[in-house]
Amino acid sequence: MLRIGMLTSGGDCQALNAAMRGVFKGVMNNAKEPVEFYGFEDGYKGMINSRFRLLTEDDFSNILTVGGTILGTSRTPFKEIHNPLPDGRDKVECMKQTYYKLQLDCLVMLGGNGSAKTANLLSEEGLNVITLPKTIDNDLWGTDMTFGFQSAVDIATRCIDEIHTTASSHGRVFIVEVMGHKVGWLPLNAGIAGGADIILLPEIPYDLDKIIDVIETRDRQGKRFTIMAVAEGAISKQDAQLSKKDYRKKLEKYTFPSVSYELADQITKKTGREVRVTILGHIQRGGTPVAYDRVFASRLGAEAARLILKKKYGVMVAYKNREMTTVPLAEVAGKLKYVDPNAEIIKEAKSIGISFGD
Ligand code: F6P
Repeated sequence: MLRIGMLTSGGDCQALNAAMRGVFKGVMNNAKEPVEFYGFEDGYKGMINSRFRLLTEDDFSNILTVGGTILGTSRTPFKEIHNPLPDGRDKVECMKQTYYKLQLDCLVMLGGNGSAKTANLLSEEGLNVITLPKTIDNDLWGTDMTFGFQSAVDIATRCIDEIHTTASSHGRVFIVEVMGHKVGWLPLNAGIAGGADIILLPEIPYDLDKIIDVIETRDRQGKRFTIMAVAEGAISKQDAQLSKKDYRKKLEKYTFPSVSYELADQITKKTGREVRVTILGHIQRGGTPVAYDRVFASRLGAEAARLILKKKYGVMVAYKNREMTTVPLAEVAGKLKYVDPNAEIIKEAKSIGISFGD
């Protein structure tokens, strides 16, 4: 008997269900022995509190196209993993007990960077763990692509497309805030695809005067509007010098701790132009996965199944140089894949007239 536990952790994204379906079908179709799949509810919390259910064929029927996760998810921050539960029990010990109680052969964890740290800890504690790279941010180190990313790019792009007509009618400057606190793959790609004039990323601190310059140049050229794709974590060159604490304090006076409102105020003050802010928020993580993500997540799932049947654990399934591969969990945990300000894609975007405000 082969017993497999599965959980989804961290912020949800499209194609989580497609990936789990891939794992399930890949194992069921190829295992030479009976298999039991257990799904933990709401991420690591389910494993900590022993909340799980036996998953059957029915659970995976008709979910390829469905966004979100049939298991539910939650954030269990790594920095809190060693804080005991209110009743004094140790969370890691609870997870280990659940694993051994169910006599699991392995745990499959679908999650992003933070969740990978906990997965690595469990692996170091002796559990057999395989992870799949999930996040709309595409910021997981060790893989060229994460599932969910292409679907989020598609949504953010469509939103920027829609903003064009209203921006043009009113002759306004628009700030479209795209998810990405620390890493800017999503605003970068959606910005290019949506024809943004300015893209601001956490990795490239901006200079307000450069932004004003782009807006005024466009005005002089008779262009009625300017569209900016701004990462949640975009930061000015000045603010990049502040401590994290001082920076958050500074943003507190805005309705939402977002750089976009401050930026809008500054642009209006300097140019007299009407500026509107549209925060895309969680809409980017919702809805049905695009075809790319369905294929990609299914492939990752099938690959994870192959590894389970080979008993190869302690790795994240990754996609590098157009090939499926694996990366040791210890290498992935805690590392982010940032946008390199000197990357080809940045140079190409600049060469077609997109400003990064630097
Ligand atoms: O990690 C994915 C992500 O969508 C980030 O881009 C975003 O900043 C964050 O999650 C939002 O998290 P939450 O859903 O907890 O508000």
